[in-house]
Amino acid sequence: MTTIDYNERIPNNVSLSDNRRLLRALESWQPKYMQWWHEMGPVGFQGDDVYLRTAINTNIHRESDWGYVKLPDYRWGIFLTDPDPDRVISHGDFKGEPVWQEVPGEFRNPLRRLIVIQGDTEPASVEQQRHLGHTCPSLYDLRNIFQVNVEEGRHLWAMVYLLDAHFGRDGRDEAEALLERNSGDADKPRILGAFNEPTPDWLSFFMFTFFTDRDGKFQLASLAESAFDPLSRTVQFMLREEAHHMFIGTTGIERVVQRTCELMRTHGADDVRRHGGIELPLIQKYLNLHFSVSLDLFGSELSTNAATYFTAGLKGRFRETTRDDDHRLRDATYPVLGLAEGRIAETHESALNAMNATLQDDYIEDCTRGLTKWNRAIAQAGIDYQLTLPHRGFHRAVGIFAGAHVAPDGRLVDRDAWESQRAGWLPTDSDRAYVGSLMQSVTEPGKMANWIAPPRAGINDKPIDWEYVKFAPRE
Ligand SMILES: [Fe+2]
Ligand SMILES: [Fe+2]
Repeated sequence: MTTIDYNERIPNNVSLSDNRRLLRALESWQPKYMQWWHEMGPVGFQGDDVYLRTAINTNIHRESDWGYVKLPDYRWGIFLTDPDPDRVISHGDFKGEPVWQEVPGEFRNPLRRLIVIQGDTEPASVEQQRHLGHTCPSLYDLRNIFQVNVEEGRHLWAMVYLLDAHFGRDGRDEAEALLERNSGDADKPRILGAFNEPTPDWLSFFMFTFFTDRDGKFQLASLAESAFDPLSRTVQFMLREEAHHMFIGTTGIERVVQRTCELMRTHGADDVRRHGGIELPLIQKYLNLHFSVSLDLFGSELSTNAATYFTAGLKGRFRETTRDDDHRLRDATYPVLGLAEGRIAETHESALNAMNATLQDDYIEDCTRGLTKWNRAIAQAGIDYQLTLPHRGFHRAVGIFAGAHVAPDGRLVDRDAWESQRAGWLPTDSDRAYVGSLMQSVTEPGKMANWIAPPRAGINDKPIDWEYVKFAPRE
């Protein structure tokens, strides 16, 4: 295979063809990626034509290629946003110095670790969602999940590019390991807990794209502030794709809520299940679950590692440059909610140690905005009910509240009281079985499963009843 052929097969804006060593590294990784895609990617549908957006440069909102693609033929490319020759480090001890184009030796290990952890989540979510195609609520939704899947695959390529381009032999080993760990695998699981949980149904999928992809947004946004410029430019482009994943989550839940409200208005609030809908309190339980496990992804609210990442310039805060402080924070404090003497109270902690808590706060604010949309849909239907985010201490396994018994409304209760109310707060096996029973594939163009309302509009200005997936003849 010549360099030029390969270059054409991997769209990129990083002059891959000029770097033979890097090209060889990616060349030897590509077949392993394809093997992973076939073994761990979407089950079925690999021979069908899916109407997808393919990035051909970083201007995806205006200049993407749209067209029918078979999933394995998707052109996973490598794109960095354009360099800013004047960019300087935005925070930490090196604030104001030029950003780094190469990895400084002393930060090699932590930077590699940050890239590996981010990279690990991307294929993990594809693995978690691999069976969902068979129970799609519509062709529109089927196309959407595959769009998310191929782009998460591209995000893995983005991280592997950084590892191969900047971390030598170690980077190549890490790139292989990213394909060897698998979601939920007993021996070689994915690195973060939430990425080893199955995504068993479409309500979970929409919650995942709302809450967990949004955690991704905030992690990427903090890496976008990195002094290591190639990382910053890589994740800036990933963020543009990520926006569509969160759109799918926000509108997906909104459509479920709308349909539930319709059923409530037609049949009465107590009869939603009998008419095949998902009652609002059950949506609230799924929300409680996905919000709490997504908060765990931020790591410990107080963390000396996070402080080091910030002072070293490896990771900033969300929208670092828009903040009105000295961006060094050596003596600054930050209010953090924690547990003290049997109650929940705010303390003032070192702002550097509280980096993860700071990012969590921004995340929670962003989640709140999504909920406002869902609650507006409920109010517009004339129904008196509100979906709410549970307290940040509810159902936590990581950080300050790990193992504490906090009710969704923020009351600290004892273990027995918590356990006895668990079934009212989190999905039970029978809730999951009920939601599972609704998951039946609807593939006639324009038709929707009974538990979800149609979207407001189609994708890329196509009508809702567009044939978003053209099925190859089944054997
Ligand atoms: Fe991603
Ligand atoms: Fe995503």
